[in-house]
Amino acid sequence: MPIINRIAEFHDDMTRWRRDIHAHPETAFEENRTADVVAGLLEEFGIEVHRGLATTGVVGTLKNGDGKRRVGLRADLDALHIHEKNTFDHASKHDGKMHACGHDGHTTMLLGAARYLAETKHFDGTIHFIFQPAEENEGGGRVMIEDGLFDLFPVDSVYGMHNAPGIPVGQFAVREGPFLAAFDIFEITVHGVGTHAAMPDRGIDPLIPAAQIVSGLKAVVSREVSPLHSAVVSVTQIHAGDTWNVIPDEVTLRGTCRWFDDHVRDMLQPAITRIVENIAAAHRCTATIHYERRYPATVNSPDETEFAASVAADLVGAEHVDRAFEPDMGSEDFAFMLQEKPGCYILIGNGPGDGGCLLHNPHYDFNDEVLPLGASYWARLAEQALPAG
Ligand code: NI
Repeated sequence: MPIINRIAEFHDDMTRWRRDIHAHPETAFEENRTADVVAGLLEEFGIEVHRGLATTGVVGTLKNGDGKRRVGLRADLDALHIHEKNTFDHASKHDGKMHACGHDGHTTMLLGAARYLAETKHFDGTIHFIFQPAEENEGGGRVMIEDGLFDLFPVDSVYGMHNAPGIPVGQFAVREGPFLAAFDIFEITVHGVGTHAAMPDRGIDPLIPAAQIVSGLKAVVSREVSPLHSAVVSVTQIHAGDTWNVIPDEVTLRGTCRWFDDHVRDMLQPAITRIVENIAAAHRCTATIHYERRYPATVNSPDETEFAASVAADLVGAEHVDRAFEPDMGSEDFAFMLQEKPGCYILIGNGPGDGGCLLHNPHYDFNDEVLPLGASYWARLAEQALPAG
């Protein structure tokens, strides 16, 4: 593996950090222990530490020379609400929480780079190591920006990385422009009049329109969005009723929308509202819709994508860097940082997804073999963004 020798020497330390974080997963804005671990290690490396942005965010700042250039390297700290099904020693000790997306690995790779860069200082300028909370659903990256991230720690560009099961170890994948989709969430409540199931005519059944809404919403993407644009409208939850012989008063549906172009977003919400309200009305029900805007699309800027891909290619060879990886309808709150600063979000291979080693799967585990490569990528990226001499 073409990694930095000094980083390879402390591979065992990184594996130990990663497994410790994996065993103690914490979710959105409660990453207190994880932030303690990160801040403790950064201080041990001699890096200046700032805490408290977005509650549990940690920023390490390392300066060298008198160069004016500044780069931001970002990792995510949070875990998911998943019950881990792995049985190895470092499996989750926090019931119902799990590092099923590899943020334990992301945090560790950035810590590894921080240790190396603090030791070697082959750069001229300022590196901000950004450890953000609440990547999953809750927009910790956005909150850090609102709390003044780029005012307190100004950067010329910012970079993010995520592991990718299914991409071999030793490979990277990236793409200029829109790379991951934007997302919103919605909650629909269909209000009827509950009654005895044996006498449906005495009430107003909200289940009939609710079922039609699930299929009716399929027409938003297939009939209203241009076939040349991408969008997803998925109903993911239906909640109603408690027993066999009662027609419930109301039904709650929840789901998510994904898209790349903002003009698609602007038509999804009114289309959903129109379909829901009219189907409900057709069956004498009413509907309330709570529609919430969440993450924008993750858009890689051209120069920084070229730069990140070339750093990766220097490490693993150009043939192991896919520069035209297919965009994904998943979402990522690094998108908020890319709205503020030019930068690039890259994928690093985590190896085969066998045995359920897939993102958000209860059998997932970050591949420790990847740690020195990811740390080497971060280190080289910082050194080349802030060249010494
Ligand atoms: Ni993730």
